[in-house]
Amino acid sequence: MTTPYETNAAGHLTVGGVEANELAARFGTPLYAYDVSAMRQQMRDFKRVFTERQVDYAVSYASKAFATVAMYEVAAQEGMHIDVVSGGETYTALEANFPMSDVSFNGNNKSEEELVMAIENNLGTIIVDNFFELHLLHDLLAERDRVQNILLRITPGVEAHTHDYISTGQTDSKFGFDVNSGQAQAALQEALADPHFNVLGVHAHIGSQIFDVTGFQMAATKLVDLVHEWGFNPKVINTGGGFGIRYTEDDEPIPASDFVAAIIDTIAEKTTEYGMPMPAVWIEPGRSIVGPAGVSLYTIGSRKDVPGIRSYLAVDGGMGDNIRPALYQAKYEAVLVNQPEAPAEEVVRVAGKYCESGDVLVWEQALPKTKVGDVLAVLATGAYGYSMASNYNRNPRPAVVFVENGEAKVVVERESYQDIVRLDRHYL
Ligand code: LLP
Repeated sequence: MTTPYETNAAGHLTVGGVEANELAARFGTPLYAYDVSAMRQQMRDFKRVFTERQVDYAVSYASKAFATVAMYEVAAQEGMHIDVVSGGETYTALEANFPMSDVSFNGNNKSEEELVMAIENNLGTIIVDNFFELHLLHDLLAERDRVQNILLRITPGVEAHTHDYISTGQTDSKFGFDVNSGQAQAALQEALADPHFNVLGVHAHIGSQIFDVTGFQMAATKLVDLVHEWGFNPKVINTGGGFGIRYTEDDEPIPASDFVAAIIDTIAEKTTEYGMPMPAVWIEPGRSIVGPAGVSLYTIGSRKDVPGIRSYLAVDGGMGDNIRPALYQAKYEAVLVNQPEAPAEEVVRVAGKYCESGDVLVWEQALPKTKVGDVLAVLATGAYGYSMASNYNRNPRPAVVFVENGEAKVVVERESYQDIVRLDRHYL
């Protein structure tokens, strides 16, 4: 089996052609390091599935997975669209000079301020989630005499087999217009009759970190069935993201592009069956683009051996830079950067430095014997690590480096203690 990381002739872990140990030494730890060419490769793989099939498309990077100016720059360079979910992500995209026409805006409670920001910056497509938003957006567009491209997000009633917190396609969800009660159809009729909306089509997102292709096929089928039933020929069907990646050896995902092939083929078959024109297919992958491309580097510090129970190895980061193990019981793999292939001598729990028992990075990790100062890489942390980072315990957030062709560049500076108190004001 191929390893989920790269090594050089010396057998040391590398990221984008640079030794991880060198990155740690140059930029300090904890550190997020991204292999930029791995991200580019995944973006190109997604695009190729569409071009091979000659289907109109948008691969819209779900930037919540990792949203920074540099990431938006790379996405733009690769001809990606992006999906944003907040004014903050929109602002970051503007800062990156991302072409606003290629941006879509998701979210179940977009504020008036965020919608105005979207309209005034000519954001391409707003993915309308509920009646409150439909009416608010109508008013804002009418005041400005504007027409906006929209998709309607609907909950198709498909439940993905994933962690409860991240499955969103089911009926009991805060997201999207409900199909079963007739709200989705009513919303479509209202939007189609409104001259301020150019209704491009429908959107559904069934969940995240999904391994089973059938959920996507069911959702795609359901979307085409519904628009056919409603007598609506959409220009766009957007099936969201959610393609599962490998975190540990227990995960055996199919290539992310295979999910997309199945989605396109399902939509093509169903529309042909109904004699409908083939719409453009939009997807919103986040994790699958950035997850496998990122690693987190830490320096090993204290150790605690609890006789007969387990050993804890503590590193200089933790739940502030990766909340996923604590929040979702997510599992990761870690390797020592200078001997990733060394035979394991013990199983340890890799803990962080935060004041909480749940502050764990890897629940069970087989490792060779380690010593203080060794650099440990937690693998596949590129998605929802930095983007969900916090300053818990007033720890500064790590720097982010992009590495490509042997060159490393800081794309987010490490926070300083001054940054930590920047917004604080004295009371006395
Ligand atoms: N589109 C929509 C509408 C979404 O809500 C999401 C993710 C995506 C696309 C991208 O899904 P992806 O391809 O990344 O699976 N914080 C959680 C994941 C939350 C996902 C939320 N929505 C985690 O760390 O696992």
